[in-house]
Amino acid sequence: MSAQPQENKPFWLTGNFAPIYDEVTETELKVTGSIPPELNGRYLRNGSNPKSGDTAHWFLGNGMIHGVELENGNANWYRNRYVQTPLLADEGADPMEALDDRSKSLANTHVIGHAGKILALEEGHWPFELSADLETVGAYNYDGKLNTGMTAHPKICPETGELLFFYYGMTPPYMTYHRASAQGELVQSEEIEVKGATMVHDFNITRNHVIFMDLPLVWNFENVTGGLPIQWSDDYGARLGVMPRDGSNKDVVWYDIDPCYVYHPVNAYDNGDSIVIDVCRLEHSMKQGAPDVSPVLYQWTINQVTGKVNERQLDDHSVEFPRVPDSRVGLPYRYGYTAQFGSGGPTANAFRKYDMKTDTSIAHELGNGRAGGEPVFVPGAGASAEDDGYLLSFVYDQAENKSELIIVDASNMEKDPVARIHLPRRVPAGFHGSWVAD
Ligand SMILES: [Fe+2]
Repeated sequence: MSAQPQENKPFWLTGNFAPIYDEVTETELKVTGSIPPELNGRYLRNGSNPKSGDTAHWFLGNGMIHGVELENGNANWYRNRYVQTPLLADEGADPMEALDDRSKSLANTHVIGHAGKILALEEGHWPFELSADLETVGAYNYDGKLNTGMTAHPKICPETGELLFFYYGMTPPYMTYHRASAQGELVQSEEIEVKGATMVHDFNITRNHVIFMDLPLVWNFENVTGGLPIQWSDDYGARLGVMPRDGSNKDVVWYDIDPCYVYHPVNAYDNGDSIVIDVCRLEHSMKQGAPDVSPVLYQWTINQVTGKVNERQLDDHSVEFPRVPDSRVGLPYRYGYTAQFGSGGPTANAFRKYDMKTDTSIAHELGNGRAGGEPVFVPGAGASAEDDGYLLSFVYDQAENKSELIIVDASNMEKDPVARIHLPRRVPAGFHGSWVAD
């Protein structure tokens, strides 16, 4: 696969992880198959693309957005644009020294649509607003009300339209919770007490709760390894903090769990006196001297009466970048979609769909020499079944040295993609994306 280290370079500077340097717009796109005509909007995906060509860690390159606009069965355009942040203009800047200025974002991790705005996200700074054609509008801070950064993994509640999010600090306060209304007004900010400065990449919402993950990846600026001053701690412990969505620090109930790290939960929901959280769980991460381990699907069930958390492994495939339909976030759900990792590093050789009701899974294999990313679910027209819709992802074809946007029928995972939109260039392996409907 493309991600093997070459010339002693780390994986994120080689093969299809390596950055590209030009910004292009292409309107004549060849399509194999047929694009479902109900898909009207834009698939957008963010990733780390160091402008200088070099970076100390995969997470520390400048953000570049790749997008494809679909309309009435046609692909109108592909384009890619850097997110124009002060760090992009200041090429020699060290991202780890830009944490005091909330506008000095890499803006490289996720891109979402909320309250009519498109926001490029990272986890140490303010979001950056983009136009519909991916030009940068500027840093976005809710009319000056957002006094912290924003996680790259806020959650949009499908029932209320609210954006629920948090920010973790390397100095106190170590955790802050925020809630924005469906109209994009920041309506609540609360400091949450935790024991120390940890890296908190994502969190969970349910209909009634938010759940913070306080896990043992601690910041340690005295011992920087691998480009990030973060280390696994055998002493910190691991806890889940449950809070009502409009609650405050005094309402948080903490539950101990076995130490682990979770970059990404699949989904969470309330179930009577319990809260169920499905996650891609690592036995450990960034642990010095320990071999790398694979993320596997786990389920945590928090019993709010007994105070105990039941933990069980659901599967043994190596899977990450989990997604559920936007309409099921925080609600009981049946299907989760993941990128299944092969030997080529953090990139997908298949999409694996989990059926939580029957405890089974099925894969859509991408084929030899082809590598994909996070599968984003987009509902079909008048969808009734939960899996009535499509998975969208960029797929790199090593033989062609180019990428495609593929559209897979989520209810027929073993079939070939219903459409492959051939792009004029390769799209480097990246992080997260969204479907922003018209
Ligand atoms: Fe992430």
